[in-house]
Amino acid sequence: MSAVVAETLFEGPIAEEYELLRLICPAAADMSRRVGEWVSAWTPPNPGTLDVLEIGCGTGITSLHLLNGRADLRLTGIDNAPAMLAQARRNLAPALAEGRLRLIEADALSHLRGLPSASVDLVASGYALHNFLDSYRDRVLAEIHRVLKPGGAFVNGDRYALDDTREHLRSTQDEVRVYFRTFLELNRPDLLEQWVVHLFSDESPDHIMRLAPALERMEETGFRPVTVHFRDGVNALVSGAKP
Ligand SMILES: C[S@@+](CC[C@H](N)C(=O)[O-])C[C@H]1O[C@@H](n2cnc3c(N)ncnc32)[C@H](O)[C@@H]1O
Repeated sequence: MSAVVAETLFEGPIAEEYELLRLICPAAADMSRRVGEWVSAWTPPNPGTLDVLEIGCGTGITSLHLLNGRADLRLTGIDNAPAMLAQARRNLAPALAEGRLRLIEADALSHLRGLPSASVDLVASGYALHNFLDSYRDRVLAEIHRVLKPGGAFVNGDRYALDDTREHLRSTQDEVRVYFRTFLELNRPDLLEQWVVHLFSDESPDHIMRLAPALERMEETGFRPVTVHFRDGVNALVSGAKP
């Protein structure tokens, strides 16, 4: 098994003040809500407690929607950024105290590799996979498929780049304009720099997650059906079932 080193993209001001994302990407909060709604409406193949693993739980925005969406859900959230997890521990303190939630500082792929096959009902994620290197994302997808029980599902609300490259460029240019307007108004050139650098990483050829190839890759991995439930610009809610 080859060693794959994941990047840590969320440290410093971008992590400490992650809640400012709502100003530059209001669609992300809406997508977190959609992930929670999708999971609360999902019919699990087996009765009993629903074991959910969240990849890249960050500060807990999507986690909270998952936990509030259904009482039978037990969540394990993993993230490799200590500054993000520290906020999740505060934001999700009641669920931690109730024992409905575990938060683990771990690399997504390493954690998945340590899980038994067919041991998780559902894997959920919000805006984490688009941060991954292509090769790393492929391995994570394969591991998600392996750890899911038959009849389980993977649901991902994420940034899926537009397949039309010119259209995508225009959309990204619009995003950069919003970054500049927002952070210069707040007099926060440090955050502007970090978010622009972050965007360059997401948009680079070995990271960018375009919708059509991403759906194909999920099917190649064995998910069936693969469904796009919602799409607005680069924001899409995608699920894949494990037959
Ligand atoms: C854009 S944030 C999204 C956070 C959260 N899911 C939400 O909906 O607000 C992406 C998160 O994924 C985490 N992440 C990125 N790469 C990771 C990896 N290889 N392993 C674990 N977590 C990772 C980051 O630390 C960050 O907290």
